[in-house]
This record gives sequence, C-alpha cells and structure tokens, in this order.
Amino acid sequence: MKLPDSIMNYPNRGKWGNNKWRGNCSGYVIRDLLDTFSPKRFVEVFSGGGTGEEVARELGYNNSIHLDLINGWDALKDEIPTYSDFVFSHPPYFDIIDYNKQRGSYNEDELSNKMPYDDFIAKLDLINKKIYASLINGGRHAILIGDVRKKGKYYSIIKDMTWFGDLENHIIKVQHNVVSSNKIYKGNLIRIAHEHLLVLEFTL
Ligand SMILES: C[S@@+](CC[C@H](N)C(=O)[O-])C[C@H]1O[C@@H](n2cnc3c(N)ncnc32)[C@H](O)[C@@H]1O
Repeated sequence: MKLPDSIMNYPNRGKWGNNKWRGNCSGYVIRDLLDTFSPKRFVEVFSGGGTGEEVARELGYNNSIHLDLINGWDALKDEIPTYSDFVFSHPPYFDIIDYNKQRGSYNEDELSNKMPYDDFIAKLDLINKKIYASLINGGRHAILIGDVRKKGKYYSIIKDMTWFGDLENHIIKVQHNVVSSNKIYKGNLIRIAHEHLLVLEFTL
C-alpha cells in the first residue's frame, strides 16, 4: 500500500524476518516504502534479521541486496553497491542494543559498541555519506532512526547527524514492543514512543 500520510503505526511487525533479532523493524515499513517508491535497484544497509529481504522477495524483487555485519559486510570498510535508486537503512540507535552480543562475536566496527556519542555520529555520517554517493541521480535514501534517552539525557540522532540529500518526506513511526515501554520516567521526562523515517533524495 502506498504511504497515505506521515504517521506510520503498525502494532504488529508482520511475518517477515527474525522477530528475535533485537531492534528488528516491522516488515510493513519496508513494504510501504517499496510500494510507494517502486525502486528498480533496492539496497538495504543494516539488514539485521532479514526483514527487508523477505519483504522484497515476496514483492518480487529478486535482485535486491541486503547488507549487515551478520552476513560479513562492514558498513565502515566495505563498498556499498552503486547505481541503486533506493537504499533503506536502519542503523543501531547508538549503544542501546549490543549487536555483538546478538551475533555472538565482537567486531570493532560494530556501531553499537560503547563509544562517545560524537564518535557514533561521526561513524554514522561516514556511512550516510557513502550511501548518498552510491545513489543514482533521483535516487533516495530512507533511514529509520530513533532518538534515545540515557541517564535522563536526550540524544536526538536525527538532529545531530548530517543529512545528505534533500529531505523529501519525514514520517513519524509509532514505536511498539520496546524495552522502554515499561519504564517509568520521573519528573518532566516523557517516554519516547516514536521513531523517524527520513526520505532523503539525491538530485544533481
Ligand atoms: C536496528 S538493527 C537492524 C534491524 C533490521 N532492520 C531488522 O529488521 O532485523 C541494526 C543492525 O546494524 C548492524 N550493524 C552495526 N554495525 C554495523 C557495521 N559496521 N556494518 C554493518 N552492519 C552493522 C547490526 O548487526 C544490526 O543488525
């Protein structure tokens, strides 16, 4: 279904991918993006538990590419296939989930490694720049990313990262089934219950 408006709300993640892979996203997000933008060459970065690949195959995308450390591809060191018209990426939200632990092996380039926040943003920027450079003219990068709160401090990743390309759409995705759903915040702190889906367009 083509995205009807700028709020996405899927309480159920759907049947696609590994629902045990922490921080996995709902397959409906990727399905709606593919239905809306109908890319010819779809690349997914940070594909994790395989949600995007299963959605893509079901929709008849037989040539899509899905990349993650889990299948031996490193976003910091390796090339991103070029000439794509659509990249979907779903990076770790800083160090909230330990993906080394999920994989069962340590990787020094794992973005969820404990590091100063500014270092995380610098690495994310580097990857976003690579994604941007991989697109054809008129291509799009859709990035799904959440803001996080740690020890009471609010980190707005979308505010702090560099935006490569022109913002074409900004979708608010309602967040479901996350550990923080059960947290009670004190004082004026409000629980974050949404993520951001930015669609950035590359035009010469
Ligand atoms: C939020 S998860 C993606 C979840 C995915 N959308 C799904 O539905 O399962 C973030 C992913 O980033 C991957 N990752 C972290 N650092 C990476 C790196 N340097 N190169 C490639 N993948 C990396 C992790 O392995 C993890 O699967």
